[in-house]
Amino acid sequence: MEGLRKGFLSGSPAMVLMVLMCTVVVRLPEASATRWTVGANMGWTTNVNYTIWAKDKHFYNGDWLFFVYDRNQMNVLEVNKTDYETCNTDHPLHNWTTGAGRDVVPLNVTRHYYFVSGKGFCYGGMKLAVRVENLPPPPSSSPIISWAPSVNSRDQNLLLPVVFAIGAAWDVFLQFW
Ligand SMILES: *[C@@H]1O[C@H](CO)[C@@H](O)[C@H](O)[C@H]1NC(C)=O
Ligand SMILES: *[C@@H]1O[C@H](CO)[C@@H](O)[C@H](O)[C@H]1NC(C)=O
Ligand SMILES: *[C@@H]1O[C@H](CO)[C@@H](O)[C@H](O)[C@H]1NC(C)=O
Ligand SMILES: *[C@@H]1O[C@H](CO)[C@@H](O)[C@H](O)[C@H]1NC(C)=O
Repeated sequence: MEGLRKGFLSGSPAMVLMVLMCTVVVRLPEASATRWTVGANMGWTTNVNYTIWAKDKHFYNGDWLFFVYDRNQMNVLEVNKTDYETCNTDHPLHNWTTGAGRDVVPLNVTRHYYFVSGKGFCYGGMKLAVRVENLPPPPSSSPIISWAPSVNSRDQNLLLPVVFAIGAAWDVFLQFW
């Protein structure tokens, strides 16, 4: 009995499969959302063209923007399109400035977002416009799920492997412990 148990645990395909499935479950939530550091290693500052930074990127519902900057000089204000174009910061839609110089903005609505720095920096080009898209449907596999609204399909995508892995793990435990 003892030998059988050890042999199963050390090398059986079922055990390997179980470990793999657990790994997939842990990794999926990270893979489905991106935290974008605005301006990459330059951060949120002067002399960066954020139109160019954003140009080749896809921002999906559920992603975050991470603004890293000099808290003594700049700030992060969300404005509407008109105020983005004119650098008007008199009536921001949202003041994302927390005071730490490291602000996280959730992109949780599928729409355009416009950010500027106040204190005159917008005029020098510290302005960012991003278009947030719905998450594309998952490739192939389940046609029913891929037609559902994106938020739902993402939740179901997470749920299915979790249920599967828990079920598989439970079977293994029942059989061998
Ligand atoms: C932005 O807000 C300003 C002031 O509240 C307003 O005059 C302007 O029409 C708004 N622009 C858009 C595109 O909503
Ligand atoms: C934004 O919020 C920060 C922190 O609460 C505050 O210090 C700052 O004055 C606000 N800026 C604007 C333009 O509302
Ligand atoms: C998006 O995030 C903001 C800030 O956390 C929150 O106030 C708002 O309710 C969220 N909207 C949706 C649709 O989840
Ligand atoms: C950033 O680059 C775009 C595209 O090359 C250009 O149209 C825009 O004027 C530039 N913005 C600034 C603030 O230099």
